[in-house]
Amino acid sequence: MLKLHELTKWYAKKNTPAVDHISLHVKPGEIFGFIGPNGAGKTTTIKMITGILTPNEGSVTICDKDIVREPVEAKRMFGYVPDNPDIYDRLTGMEYLEFLGDVYGVSGTDRQNRILYYGQMFGIQDVLGNQIRSYSHGMRQKLVLMGALLHKPKLWIMDEPMVGLDPMAAHLLKEEMRAHCAAGNTVFFSTHVLEVAEKLCDRVGIIADGRLVAVGTLEELRRQAGSDSSLEEIFLKTVEQV
Ligand SMILES: Nc1ncnc2c1ncn2[C@@H]1O[C@H](COP(=O)(O)OP(=O)(O)OP(=O)(O)O)[C@@H](O)[C@H]1O
Ligand SMILES: [Mg+2]
Repeated sequence: MLKLHELTKWYAKKNTPAVDHISLHVKPGEIFGFIGPNGAGKTTTIKMITGILTPNEGSVTICDKDIVREPVEAKRMFGYVPDNPDIYDRLTGMEYLEFLGDVYGVSGTDRQNRILYYGQMFGIQDVLGNQIRSYSHGMRQKLVLMGALLHKPKLWIMDEPMVGLDPMAAHLLKEEMRAHCAAGNTVFFSTHVLEVAEKLCDRVGIIADGRLVAVGTLEELRRQAGSDSSLEEIFLKTVEQV
């Protein structure tokens, strides 16, 4: 579903790469959690996966489509939630969703049904006629989530998707992620909330200083760390050793 091969990114004027030869294969049906300290390279990796940044080395394929060589085909396969819901302030929520529906070629009926479904689920149905600049941070985050899921992508790529969501919305999102993967689809998301990663993910990858320093199921990570500990303890121990 999602393959990273030796993925590497150097930013200008830096002595070390932000992402350093990361290889990873996320399979259909998996919820994969990407965790790591601030500045570890999570967002940079996600921006290369989504084609926002071009890698200096390595490649990304999504459903066997290379994000650099076949960007449009690859981009059809995923929905992306960035780390910051800064979107077109002067559009209304509905105009934003209609725009994304047009971009992804979502038919009228599907579009209406999904907007209704997610709008009711997240409880922002009533404000979709208002300009986005009047939205709270959490309302913007919900709108971005709706826009990312509108074309029913197989792969969800989300950079800290729960930030700003109220507990009910975060719960509903987790349920949606589970259902999505239970249907054979895939979620790749970053988070700092290790309890969420521990409970939700089939596998977790730990990135530190741009390198993927551990990857596996919680059981596998426990075995690697040589202890029967929580993900938090494994995380602290793993990152400390880098
Ligand atoms: N536009 C940029 N120009 C130069 N350096 C950058 C740029 N964006 C990120 N970096 C650097 O790349 C490294 C990785 O940053 P990145 O944003 O990928 O980390 P992150 O794991 O997403 O962190 P956080 O948990 O804080 O979101 C950091 O050292 C950061 O300073
Ligand atoms: Mg980040």
